[in-house]
Amino acid sequence: MCGITGYIGCRDAAPILIEGLRKLEYRGYDSAGLALLSKGRLNVCKKKGRVAVLADEVAKKPVSSHIGISHTRWATHGGVTDENAHPHVSSDGRFALVHNGIIENFEQMKNFLIEKGYTFSSQTDTEALVNLIAYHYDHRTDDTMENRFMEAVRKALMHVEGTYGIAVISPLHEVQMIAARKGSPLLIGIGKDERLVSSDVLGFAGRATNVIYLEDGQIASLTTDNCDIVTISNKPIDFVVNEIDWELENADLGGATHYMEKEIFEQPKALENAIRGRISDDESTAVLSGLNISPSELRQIDRILFCSCGTAWHACLVAEYLIEKYARIPVEVEYASEFRYRNAPLDKNTLVFVISQSGETIDTLEALRESKRKGYKTLAITNSVGSTIARESDGGLYQYAGKEVGVASTKAFTSQVVICLLIALYLGRLRDLSYAEGREIVEAIKSLPSLVEETLKQAPLIEKIAKKYAHYKDFLFLGRLSEYPIANEGALKLKEISYIHSEGYPAGEMKHGPIALVSPECPTLIFGNSGSALPKIISNAQEIKARKGPIIAVTDSPEAFEGVADDIIAIPHVHKSIRPIISTIPIQLFAYYVAVELGNDVDKPRNLAKAVTVE
Ligand code: AGP
Repeated sequence: MCGITGYIGCRDAAPILIEGLRKLEYRGYDSAGLALLSKGRLNVCKKKGRVAVLADEVAKKPVSSHIGISHTRWATHGGVTDENAHPHVSSDGRFALVHNGIIENFEQMKNFLIEKGYTFSSQTDTEALVNLIAYHYDHRTDDTMENRFMEAVRKALMHVEGTYGIAVISPLHEVQMIAARKGSPLLIGIGKDERLVSSDVLGFAGRATNVIYLEDGQIASLTTDNCDIVTISNKPIDFVVNEIDWELENADLGGATHYMEKEIFEQPKALENAIRGRISDDESTAVLSGLNISPSELRQIDRILFCSCGTAWHACLVAEYLIEKYARIPVEVEYASEFRYRNAPLDKNTLVFVISQSGETIDTLEALRESKRKGYKTLAITNSVGSTIARESDGGLYQYAGKEVGVASTKAFTSQVVICLLIALYLGRLRDLSYAEGREIVEAIKSLPSLVEETLKQAPLIEKIAKKYAHYKDFLFLGRLSEYPIANEGALKLKEISYIHSEGYPAGEMKHGPIALVSPECPTLIFGNSGSALPKIISNAQEIKARKGPIIAVTDSPEAFEGVADDIIAIPHVHKSIRPIISTIPIQLFAYYVAVELGNDVDKPRNLAKAVTVE
């Protein structure tokens, strides 16, 4: 979603800001803009389309400047136009602002400001805020010139209902930038004689060595070599400065064509990282110190609630299966966006987990806050060290999958699932899971990276199959038990990047409705692995075949699908606990190759954002 970068320092701001925007492109956006201060003037350039378009435009009229703000916009209020792109400038031309979030009461603000003579040229909510800052700048009480800018922003923000991450500059204060956040991520980067602002560490483009994570309700005043932070009620803050681990944040394409391709093939490594140091061979269990919760406390837990969105929600569904199977603890799974508002009754001894790759998804963050507000211990599984969800949870586990750039989540998903399996193992071994059963799971987890490596070798075959099916308009994905969530995940992956309508269902549900879709024009990808459900799945496949529906089978028992499926993708025969991960690999590759065949922008699919930071 919207990306912010800001720069104040002794170097040329424009190339640094553009580079920052390039690094944030993966978040998803539809227009880009930049404002620079130079010799008491504000220079603004904004364009719909890609950052490259903006960069070309900026290059036509170079401006030498040491302070500026820039933005990639993901449209919420108002269409995708140059006018609606950020930065927005107050109608008196004295303030420029970039904003991520939604100002819910912008209409009231706007009406108030129109009465006072301010004018508007966009349809955005943001323009109301920048004009309100101008208004408060003029209606100061006893502010000194030094804190007048900061106070104007602070007072304006006191009237905002909604969410924001903002950066503001003014030609009246050429050596100062103001940044603030509430509900939308904003980070301050510290480099040598320079300060940066960004919605994400990547936006610092390798320049900052240290980072300050701004908290909700905090406002920062930045100069080249200083940073002061106060709360919205004007109380000074003692902030923490963290070192940036650039190795963890590294996001080069390497030799791959797309980030999604790179990230699919990185899964053996990502899984290895997620597992490292988290297995006790001696005790056949998992070692999960990050949970910050003692074994005796865990034994009191009667129920676990998992909350998430999108792909992470599918990881929760797998967690439900794994934890109920191995730890025998009832698990509920909620969409984070529903949980926050539906006030579901929870048992006293409920433990809450949220899962979020980005650690910034607003729905998941608000679900976490709601759960904490109600007094539940709330833990997080996230891939983003220092993210808001990581900081606000009571404990949790980092995925260490490495930065995921492709909008379609791949390696983050499988590493979330393996962490859920570790949790299931740990909780199981605290209860009734025997040493021998624990041992089998431990061995299965240890073999995962090489089994995923082996499964990835099917890529050429899957590419061929994907080309054959790329031009269909509808798809069904069917699976049973722990592969039902993977059917959902397959359908989500396909629709996200190929824009093909696809639905995931438990295979047994097929006859209760989805079978109406089956025809020669609607292929089905079906998971059918060894076990008691296999005969039932074969019957489902037969029913599809009888209605002339094309079938792709993903199976560890290829012989069972001979003469039934049109195409068969064989996967290794593995322990049940890790099967959902192995089954995921073919559907990721399938979606990827279909999208490539269709010529789609795989890493930045239309309308989607990597971190969904507005509700
Ligand atoms: C995954 O392919 C999607 N882009 C999306 O569903 C994503 O998983 C969801 O928005 C949750 O994101 P998070 O893990 O960063 O919270």
